[in-house]
Amino acid sequence: MQLAFQVGSRASTMSLRGKYGMSPLLKMLLRHRKKKCFFIAFAFCCGILVLLYIWDYYGLSDVLYETSFSDFAWPLNINLAEAVRKIQNNEKLDIAQINPFPFKIRMQNENLCKDVIVKNSAIFVLIVVKSACWSFESRHIIRKSWGNEKTISVNHSGTEYQLVTKRVFLIGHSSSLDSQYLLREEYQMYKDLIQGDFEDGYFNNTYKTMMAFSYASLHCHNAHFAFFVDEDFYISKRNTAQFLASLPATSAQNLYIGFSLFTNTRVNRNKKHKRYVPLAEYPYSRIPPYVYAGAYILSMKNIRDMSVAMHYVKFFRMDDVYLGLIAYRLGITISDGGKRFLMEFYTSSDVVNSHVIASHGFRGKMSLMREFWDLAAET
Ligand SMILES: *[C@@H]1O[C@H](CO)[C@@H](O)[C@H](O)[C@H]1NC(C)=O
Ligand SMILES: *[C@@H]1O[C@H](CO)[C@@H](O)[C@H](O)[C@H]1NC(C)=O
Repeated sequence: MQLAFQVGSRASTMSLRGKYGMSPLLKMLLRHRKKKCFFIAFAFCCGILVLLYIWDYYGLSDVLYETSFSDFAWPLNINLAEAVRKIQNNEKLDIAQINPFPFKIRMQNENLCKDVIVKNSAIFVLIVVKSACWSFESRHIIRKSWGNEKTISVNHSGTEYQLVTKRVFLIGHSSSLDSQYLLREEYQMYKDLIQGDFEDGYFNNTYKTMMAFSYASLHCHNAHFAFFVDEDFYISKRNTAQFLASLPATSAQNLYIGFSLFTNTRVNRNKKHKRYVPLAEYPYSRIPPYVYAGAYILSMKNIRDMSVAMHYVKFFRMDDVYLGLIAYRLGITISDGGKRFLMEFYTSSDVVNSHVIASHGFRGKMSLMREFWDLAAET
């Protein structure tokens, strides 16, 4: 009975097709269905693509395997402050360095700070400028403006303070630039270059920083502070002096200030980003507090401690984060300089007035920087 029915129905459909082709109604129904299916499939694919994009953009495959920051243990896993104290007291330490400075120094002036006599009311600041070896013009203008070594005076609470400065530029070298002889001439003339035997590049900045810390603590330890700054910043010496003079003694001794203070920051896992960090390089979900490496001030005490400590702290490519890691492991607090540091300036009055110490945004605008300096009349 059933079989007969099936055979019959198939036969009838076949006869329908055979005689007249597909019925218009059936055709329309099928076409409609096809469109709908196609649309659903299309939307589905788009959805998947968007998800894949988000997955990739935020590096979610990495994020899934991150180690919680509560398990943070950046090597070496030792009592770092204790180790630093032992080394500074010439006590025996049976721990090998894991991050020695791996390059030669091509040139540096070990006598730069030797002749500076620091009087009672003087504040001695070493200005350390991260510079690219090919930035001849920037260095020229910086020497003539905020990098000059003229002593200035400020009054604070009825006392007059003198700001005494020395300046050095941190440079690498460039294999694509036949400039080494020019750099040697520049060095002979100003004696203010520290050149490491590595190529100038963003991800060699940690080496520059290591070089600077070691130089400051070995050859310029009579300075009270070091002001680390990139060559595209404007610095107000007067406001810097005012700020440093206003610090209570303990804050001055333990100073580590910059901008903007990043706390509890996630690691960048976006593979296309300049600051992408693979899991193998840094496994934790968060980064200890850090400030931009573009402009920050440290007390000599912190520089001395950190310059010893950094040989026992695993290397990290980004200098701002690396310094944050060392500070965190040593228990040094980083303060937020707030509005004393400008990421972007708008007018000359933003830069020359108020309390602004450092202002970013002068790449390719060195003549403007010079103009602002003349306007501020800081001599
Ligand atoms: C500081 O104050 C003294 C006394 O009031 C004054 O003679 C001196 O010019 C002031 N210095 C500056 C840099 O303002
Ligand atoms: C850092 O310097 C080394 C040694 O000169 C060089 O091989 C490397 O390419 C440099 N890295 C960057 C990011 O410039």
